[in-house]
Amino acid sequence: MCGIVGYVGPNSSLDVLLAGLSRLEYRGYDSAGVAVIDDAGHIGTRKRAGKLKELLGELEETPLNDGKTGIGHTRWATHGGPNDSNAHPHLGDNGKLALIHNGIIENFSELKQEMLDAGESFTSETDTEVAAIMVGREYRATGDLTESMRRVVARLEGAFTLLIVHEDSPGVVVGARRNSPLVIGLGDGENFLGSDVAAFVGFTRRAMEIGQDQIVTIRPDSVLVTDFDGAAVQNTEYEVAWDASAAEKGGWASFMAKEISEEPEAVANTLRGRIHDGAVTLPELAVLDDVVLAGINRVIVIACGTAAYAGAVGKYAIEKWARVPVEVELSHEFRYRDPILDERTLVVSISQSGETMDTLMAVKYAKASGARVLSICNTQGSTIPRESEAVIYTHAGPEVAVASTKAFVAQITALYLLGLHLAQVRGTLSAEAIAENVEELRAVPEKITEVLEVSKSIGQLAHWMTDTQSVLFLGRHVGYPIAMEGALKLKELAYIHAEGFAAGELKHGPIALIEPGQIVFVVVPSPRDPSSLHPKVVSNIQEIRARGARVIAIAEQGDAAVLPFADEVIPIPLAGSFFEPFLAVVPLHIFSMELAMAKGLDVDQPRNLAKSVTVE
Ligand code: M6R
Repeated sequence: MCGIVGYVGPNSSLDVLLAGLSRLEYRGYDSAGVAVIDDAGHIGTRKRAGKLKELLGELEETPLNDGKTGIGHTRWATHGGPNDSNAHPHLGDNGKLALIHNGIIENFSELKQEMLDAGESFTSETDTEVAAIMVGREYRATGDLTESMRRVVARLEGAFTLLIVHEDSPGVVVGARRNSPLVIGLGDGENFLGSDVAAFVGFTRRAMEIGQDQIVTIRPDSVLVTDFDGAAVQNTEYEVAWDASAAEKGGWASFMAKEISEEPEAVANTLRGRIHDGAVTLPELAVLDDVVLAGINRVIVIACGTAAYAGAVGKYAIEKWARVPVEVELSHEFRYRDPILDERTLVVSISQSGETMDTLMAVKYAKASGARVLSICNTQGSTIPRESEAVIYTHAGPEVAVASTKAFVAQITALYLLGLHLAQVRGTLSAEAIAENVEELRAVPEKITEVLEVSKSIGQLAHWMTDTQSVLFLGRHVGYPIAMEGALKLKELAYIHAEGFAAGELKHGPIALIEPGQIVFVVVPSPRDPSSLHPKVVSNIQEIRARGARVIAIAEQGDAAVLPFADEVIPIPLAGSFFEPFLAVVPLHIFSMELAMAKGLDVDQPRNLAKSVTVE
């Protein structure tokens, strides 16, 4: 939520900031703004409500003197509506200092009153402006930008990443972070700050983490990191595993279309190096060694949104394979209900971004309560992995579209690897059974590629549905979370009311929603499924058909039992029942994207959303 970029070096800071903002825009797009210290030592700012293109238009109409020090911001509004005056940067010290912020300053009302009492005035409704004014006052007192930041962060409560520049300190950007992300990009004679590495990966792939409650001061040739008390700290440098081209559209109509096409690769890359001779190897779990994992008596998966649906798919497999109870809970519900945790509880957090505040808080809580904490994450160097004892990285590559697609299948892959690893350690599956499942996993990427091929016709299906008011999704067993995921995608992209149900639950109430013409997607289990759920779901289809619903079934190739009752059938290749989610979800991702496009909506940046939800 909110993208932040900072630059000091020999080059045009406007070029760096605007390139960074275009890569960070997925974090929020309610407004954008920049502040630059020009070569004459004056600070200039431009900011505009709306997407980055509005700011670009503004810069064209009223150009800004460029310079070599600057900060830039793209906003997801929390305090104060998305208008020009609430856009960042905010100014302090009579306009000589500019500040940008990601997060929420929870005690801003009392601080604002204190500033008003001291004679300061405000031009916005944001919580951020109070920090700008406070740092400006401290700078007047100390003349030291880092010290001013230190004094102010000591008084702030909540979550924040702050960046500041002051025209009397050209060539310096100071940043601070508590519970919100900030990463350093290390260049040659230039340095960068960003909410994530996408901000600067076009300029350097050398990055350095910034820990919790730390302040960083960058100059062209130096980087100094201290804690909030001023003690120097040494952080770890790392190489970003992907280059700038991975975060570009590369000829696709949208990032979402590109990322759906990368679903096979996301699975294959997450498997790479982790399966050998029909068994799973996860060296990254060293801290959670076999003794620890053999001793756990419960797994709690915590996540939000799509990541939570991946967790719900994983629950079925982990329980089946490792014979350990698995609960799946939304991070924000888990955190505030006083859950019972001990050292035999394994908490598994799932997050694409590694920055989701609800999940981060739940991870910290679980750790403090004595549970063992493992994370599944797609973003190297992000906060959640750093707060966890061990991490299984998904290797889906950068996911830019706000709607999560390739990360979802990569998360299920990581959960399945974990489930099989637990089964190995706990001796709950034979070596042959493990090898069979590993083989199924290995075959997934190719099967997703087949689904992508047959799903090309979904666009036509979507085109006649642009006036649809409501769509229902049904599934059972591992198909149930897929129904939920299908509904979430449709809501967030096409702004259509959608609900996912367990098909067995239909007769307990939701069937009352069925009226002639109601569109219902049904994820049909394989007719070969040993649990014999197939005939039950086919009966559900008949029940809704009898009441006039229009049924679109996602069913295994050759499933003749479905044909007479479905209006449309989207065929998926044969796979073991635990592996159907990888295949059934793909047409649903494509459908929501196509329908949103048919309605003329922006599929990469749906309204009111942000990619990385860094506020609670
Ligand atoms: O970065 P995370 O995986 O922690 O994000 C969790 C959710 O915010 C995310 O999956 C969200 O639901 C997506 N917009 C769904 O497409």
